[in-house]
Amino acid sequence: MTLMTPAQLAAAVPKAELHMHIEGSLEPELIFALAQRNGLSLPYASVEALRAAYAFIDLQSFLDIYYAGASVLLHEADFHDMAWAYFLRAAADNVVHTEIFFDPQAHTARGVPMDTVIQGLASACARAQAELGVSAALILCFLRHLSEEDAFNTLEAALPYREHFIGIGLDSSEVGHPPSKFSRVFARCRELGFHVVAHAGEEGPPAYIWEALNDLQTERIDHGVRSLEDPALVAELAQRRIPLTVCPLSNLKLCVVDDLKDHPMKRLLDAGLCATVNSDDPAYFGGYMNANFVQTVEALHLTREDVITLARNSFEASFVSDERRAALLALLDNAVA
Ligand code: ADE
Ligand code: ZN
Repeated sequence: MTLMTPAQLAAAVPKAELHMHIEGSLEPELIFALAQRNGLSLPYASVEALRAAYAFIDLQSFLDIYYAGASVLLHEADFHDMAWAYFLRAAADNVVHTEIFFDPQAHTARGVPMDTVIQGLASACARAQAELGVSAALILCFLRHLSEEDAFNTLEAALPYREHFIGIGLDSSEVGHPPSKFSRVFARCRELGFHVVAHAGEEGPPAYIWEALNDLQTERIDHGVRSLEDPALVAELAQRRIPLTVCPLSNLKLCVVDDLKDHPMKRLLDAGLCATVNSDDPAYFGGYMNANFVQTVEALHLTREDVITLARNSFEASFVSDERRAALLALLDNAVA
């Protein structure tokens, strides 16, 4: 791989994806196919009309459409088929390990049982390992616009399936819903032995990242791009090697940045932070892992060393066993040797 450009190298290297909402991988074609299979009608005349609605001005304008799209998911096979479609895309982008967010409250609130959601996703994860050699784990996210009590009830409903998920996350509308709102339920999740992460510093201020670290004791920060506004926070993240799961095309589509050329990824790397590249909601934001990686490399003129650092960071930041991490890092070393 020595003769490749940095962008070609970015596409070719083995990597992990650590920030991807499985409901955000529902392509318009699959939304229409599932609606038809389930006898549901959609408020859009065609796939093209739905895709044309993907003109977002901020996080909330996206979330409204994202939850509407997810409402076509009713049966175990729907969750399985959605995840399987993602795994095929991820494998094609040389993703060899992935940690997948899912939003059970978006489904249980519509009457879909927890069992249906988790069994459908878990069987797709097992199939990805068996048929594609991609290791996959699930992270259950609480919707932060709902109450902490609702999060506690969701945790309770999911615990019979705890063998199928490794961690707990926090997503949905950020501003006005600080991490500290979920301190008690996250304490319980840590007590139960789950990994914990939270979205913070996407639209919310650096104070929300401090709260994720101090109140929720998260092991990673999802997004975290606004950390650069607070030098003491950058120093803390660097010193503790808290990974940031950054999603460049998401930041562009949700107007967190006006142009990919202004994206903070290079500054995060230069500050010594453990930043990673991820796709967030790839069906809505214009691309999967390699689209994010390649476009970021090109827009910011990232070097070969930056690309290798980002791939290495993705394995360092993942929740795999030490043995699997060593194998993944060796795979990367071999690929770039
Ligand atoms: N849910 C799905 N995508 C999200 C994002 N980018 N931020 C917060 N919640 C989300
Ligand atoms: Zn996200």
